Amino acid sequence: MTTLQLVLFTCLLATVAVARPVSFVQDFRVTWADSHVRQVESGRTIQLVLDQSSGCGFASKSKFLFGRVTMKIKLIAGDSAGTVTAFYMNSDTDNVRDELDFEFLGNRSGQPYTVQTNVYAHGKGDREQRVNLWFDPAADYHSYTIFWNHHHVVFYVDSIPIRVYKNNEARGIPFPRFQPMGVYSTLWNADNWATRGGLEKINWSKAPFYAYYKDFDIEACSIPGPAACASSSANWWFGPAYQQLSPAEARSYRWVRMNHMIYDYCADRARYPVVPPECTAGI
Ligand SMILES: *[C@@H]1O[C@H](CO)[C@@H](O)[C@H](O)[C@H]1NC(C)=O
Ligand SMILES: *[C@@H]1O[C@H](CO)[C@@H](O)[C@H](O)[C@H]1NC(C)=O
Repeated sequence: MTTLQLVLFTCLLATVAVARPVSFVQDFRVTWADSHVRQVESGRTIQLVLDQSSGCGFASKSKFLFGRVTMKIKLIAGDSAGTVTAFYMNSDTDNVRDELDFEFLGNRSGQPYTVQTNVYAHGKGDREQRVNLWFDPAADYHSYTIFWNHHHVVFYVDSIPIRVYKNNEARGIPFPRFQPMGVYSTLWNADNWATRGGLEKINWSKAPFYAYYKDFDIEACSIPGPAACASSSANWWFGPAYQQLSPAEARSYRWVRMNHMIYDYCADRARYPVVPPECTAGI
């Protein structure tokens, strides 16, 4: 390649993938209850509010196909029982939707926050796993990441994998590979199910409840956008190092599963007398 070609090629790459969004205003929109989504710290941080009148939510303006989406989130402090704060990706295609969920289930003061993950592929979900966090997610910001390429979907908490959904299409198991997804976040009242199965209700005398988001980082192919992006091997997230967990990641993933996983649909024989096929395809 000549220098000129290299420059042109680099420019092309720059237009192919989204760099990190600079501002909430530019890249996101409020989807639910404008008055409850507030910009604080000169717009660098978004505060979501839940009170008795409403929850709220926001979403990315674009959709994405493959890549990595990270947000730093500080969850509701104190008594958060009955609340759910979510960060997820969704193709918004009713019957055939793909969706990758992080749901943070609140708890009474001093009791552990639970992170529930779920994967919908081609309209089929019901793949919940639950992990109790090993730190207080309301004391400070932590990073939550959804990584997604042709080989797997990985959910990370502070760079530690807590969930892997592998591409097992060869065994007839659907994998979210064809539909772009938007990035969403919501905070709402889910006290009919969230905490101890719905036994713990929201204590409204503690309202309003606040969750905080910052440092939105999206490195992904934007759709609509250059058609070649989602298959371009020039994108780092398609590189050989990202086709499976690194040995260090695999070790931390085992540590999470052994020490912090409190529910796995794969092991729920009452609900699934027949083990779902992806569960025996190796984690
Ligand atoms: C809340 O705390 C209780 C008691 O420690 C625990 O059993 C439960 O898993 C926690 N999380 C939720 C979402 O109920
Ligand atoms: C709700 O919060 C109030 C005020 O802090 C407290 O007095 C009350 O015991 C709480 N109720 C429950 C069910 O925790």
